[in-house]
Amino acid sequence: MPLAPSVAEEQARRLLAEDLPRRWAHVMAVAQKAQIIGRELGEDGALLEATAWVHDVGYAPDLAVVGFHPLDGARYLDGLDAPRRIVDLVAFHSSAWAEAQEFGVVDELARFQDERTLTRDLLWYCDMTTGPDGSDLEFEDRMAEVRERYGPEHYVTRALDAGMDERRAAVRRSREWLTSVGLADQV
Ligand SMILES: [Fe+2]
Repeated sequence: MPLAPSVAEEQARRLLAEDLPRRWAHVMAVAQKAQIIGRELGEDGALLEATAWVHDVGYAPDLAVVGFHPLDGARYLDGLDAPRRIVDLVAFHSSAWAEAQEFGVVDELARFQDERTLTRDLLWYCDMTTGPDGSDLEFEDRMAEVRERYGPEHYVTRALDAGMDERRAAVRRSREWLTSVGLADQV
């Protein structure tokens, strides 16, 4: 069954808005970009927006089981019988695979699939060009921000370099597509 963006929004709001207002501000900004992009994306448009709403629910204190938010979020959504693609996109968002290696949860994440599509690239793009408070950031600035926020010893920082080529490639492909549909200046 598809997950309507409005339903995904409500789920995310319930899980994040009160407990993690800064994270919620980030999610709202990511979803807003996804909505704009989704209008040009055709049949995956609603899926992209719905996924953007729930991509960070794994940060919710109620859901944190493993402590690795892409996996916690994907497992939660899987338990709700969310569409498989949404579950998989959340599991692998923004180079989660590289982070999983640092975090030691590769086997658990391998239960999910990285679909490696334009929709997946665009989800990563929306996330990786939005700061933790919802501000607009250039990709390279966002990476620098992550490095600074987590510090050199954190697994997210260590994974940053491991996943950097993949992240850059996803952003490059996204920018090319956004330019081709006239959205490059809007998101
Ligand atoms: Fe995010």
